[in-house]
Amino acid sequence: MSRLVIVSNRTPGKSAAAGGLAVALRKTLAEREGFWFGWSGKLTDAPETRARFEDVEGLSVATIDLTRDDHQAYYAGFSNSILWPSFHLRLDLAHIDSTWYEGYRRVNQQFAQALLPLLRPDDVIWVHDYHLIPLASELRALGAGNRMGFYLHIPFPTADALYAIPHHLELMRDVSRYDLVGMQANRDVAAFTEAVENMTHTSLAGDPLQMFDFARTEVAAFPIGSDPEAFARMSVSAAATKMVKRMDRVLAGQKLVLGVDRLDYSKGLPQRVEAYEKLLANNSRLRRCVHMLQIAPPSRDSIKEYQETSDTLDAICGRVMGRFAEPDWAPLTYVKRAYGQASLAGLYRLARVALVTPLRDGMNLVAHEFIGSQNPADPGVLVLSRFAGAAEIFEDAILVNPFDTDETAEALRLALDMPLEERQSRWRSLMAAAQEHNVDDWSKSFLGRLSPPSAAAGAPTRDILYLASMA
Ligand code: G6P
Repeated sequence: MSRLVIVSNRTPGKSAAAGGLAVALRKTLAEREGFWFGWSGKLTDAPETRARFEDVEGLSVATIDLTRDDHQAYYAGFSNSILWPSFHLRLDLAHIDSTWYEGYRRVNQQFAQALLPLLRPDDVIWVHDYHLIPLASELRALGAGNRMGFYLHIPFPTADALYAIPHHLELMRDVSRYDLVGMQANRDVAAFTEAVENMTHTSLAGDPLQMFDFARTEVAAFPIGSDPEAFARMSVSAAATKMVKRMDRVLAGQKLVLGVDRLDYSKGLPQRVEAYEKLLANNSRLRRCVHMLQIAPPSRDSIKEYQETSDTLDAICGRVMGRFAEPDWAPLTYVKRAYGQASLAGLYRLARVALVTPLRDGMNLVAHEFIGSQNPADPGVLVLSRFAGAAEIFEDAILVNPFDTDETAEALRLALDMPLEERQSRWRSLMAAAQEHNVDDWSKSFLGRLSPPSAAAGAPTRDILYLASMA
């Protein structure tokens, strides 16, 4: 079998923030030959193009350092102040600085230059997320003919949000240099298809330099999942039980409403706390009977919009405390730090309701992990945003429009009042869906499509195909 090379901005084992993606792919890479390539997490003064290999808990990981200026332009700038807000349809939060694109391309070139000497011709390359859209173009410009796949972990934007991104035509051309492009949801594939159709008909007319051709790029939805059985086991582990005991003391019989999210404006945290506020305002019987725990580890905090989201959330949580708290009762706990997976699994199992209400989200693995962690005899209820990719999978969650805080408050009330039998039957169907979309099958189906067994035996690479079609 050909080797697998996984490429992502963050590599496993460097920080808690590497979380979801690292967990998802660690197993895939542990099962076949290959390595992981990405940023070392270190900043230097001079650019570096020679990767260093290290062993991270049995995985072979090759990394390069980035210069401070390049990292600022590539990560905080183009990736997270232009692509992230635009792809999440928050053009109001996008900042456009014309120098960032050069930094973004420079880092992708640097990745390509450092990766190329490590490659064998039949290696299969799997590139992850919006930081690295141009990587296939840069590798191909250096002569790499390998099979290359790209997976977008965040939603694909609507056509007009895409047009608001500087250099979007180049980025679309970059996408067309992959053999396979995977997206989270059918919604994303539809948005992508519409954008491509619009572009080939209008923007590109008459300009051959701007032409791109998706004829040899397959684009499909591959919804990511978790390992629900692992969460089931973790939720009753010693670490989980320890956390449950700590929380149980605070709850003293109250029902737990739980949210777990990176502190990011796409997660709809202020709206969520506002919905909880409305629940308490409209249902005085629930005061002293429920407690909300919101875990929100800080994220990308060098970016102004993230600092502002954090301030807004502080203010709203303070308002709800001031309005409802009493000397012997607090309506909510708000924790700005990260916890290990086992502790979270314990909390998921303890929760009566999980509030997973992003304004827009690629998939949302918290929804999957919550379902996996439930006690089948007494499961909690998932209140889920219609605008998370997970909504295409989890039809038996209570689906809400997170912008409508009245609707979310009412969904929360329904969830808290839901009889045991209904909770059980909804959970059984959710668990079946989580199992059907588990992370193992996700990576197997993507890789199976990227390098089918016949291709592994030496099928032509993209460049050979190109020559064949010219002949
Ligand atoms: C999202 C992105 C990932 C990213 C993660 C954490 O899930 O899709 O690519 O790694 O957020 O964000 P950070 O900026 O800390 O890497």
